Amino acid sequence: MTRVRIFDSPAALSRALAGHVARALAAHPAIVLGLATGRTPIPLYRELVRLHGAGRADFSRATTFNLDEFLGVGATDPRSYRAFMQTHLFDHVNLSARRIHFLNGAVGPGRGVARECDRYERAIERAGGIDLQILGLGMNGHIGFNEPARALAARTHSARLKPATRRANAPLFGNRVGAVPREALSMGMATILHARRIVLLATGSMKARSVERMIAGPVTPRLPASFLQLHRHVDIWLDRAAARNLG
Ligand code: F6R
Repeated sequence: MTRVRIFDSPAALSRALAGHVARALAAHPAIVLGLATGRTPIPLYRELVRLHGAGRADFSRATTFNLDEFLGVGATDPRSYRAFMQTHLFDHVNLSARRIHFLNGAVGPGRGVARECDRYERAIERAGGIDLQILGLGMNGHIGFNEPARALAARTHSARLKPATRRANAPLFGNRVGAVPREALSMGMATILHARRIVLLATGSMKARSVERMIAGPVTPRLPASFLQLHRHVDIWLDRAAARNLG
């Protein structure tokens, strides 16, 4: 079932969602969280760091898996998604380093990529699966780096990034679109849909069209987020701007 929640502002949404995550941590300290990078969850992570500082969010037994990473970009590279997560969350909360999981973008081509994707799938399985997956929404309807296409990959794979996605990520690469890798590693659509619960966040009017198609349009690989309609426990958290096309 898809439930839609609409908030007055991204700040109000982030406060409410951070509270929700903190309550999930309290109820289930060994929770397995799926995490996203990008601009949308930054205020959520800020709020989680604040709650942690106030003694209201304990990550000591939690496990995390991030959705994706650029291919050819190593974990210690400041442009990596891993570095992004260190800056916005990991450096400021009490997650145990051995329970933070990330795709390694520095793997060699060919077999190296296949082995890395396999390793990640197995690690998710060994952790018992993802309890709560947090997702952002690409302007073109992608989730993770599952880009619009004729067909989608089910499992963790290397994905070719669309020009619009490379443009959206240019700020991480000194605003040089040409410097953004053409490929990334990403959880696949089935990997995402296997999470027990999913919360997708979208804020701003630029996302309104994809939000409308995701919720009210057909399930199609042309809008990967529409596959969330197939999941039993999806919450779509929006601000008013992102929700403006919903009736
Ligand atoms: C990032 C990710 C992407 C983003 C999406 C939205 O880990 O999986 O799918 O969630 O590109 O990005 P923002 O939030 O920057 O608009």
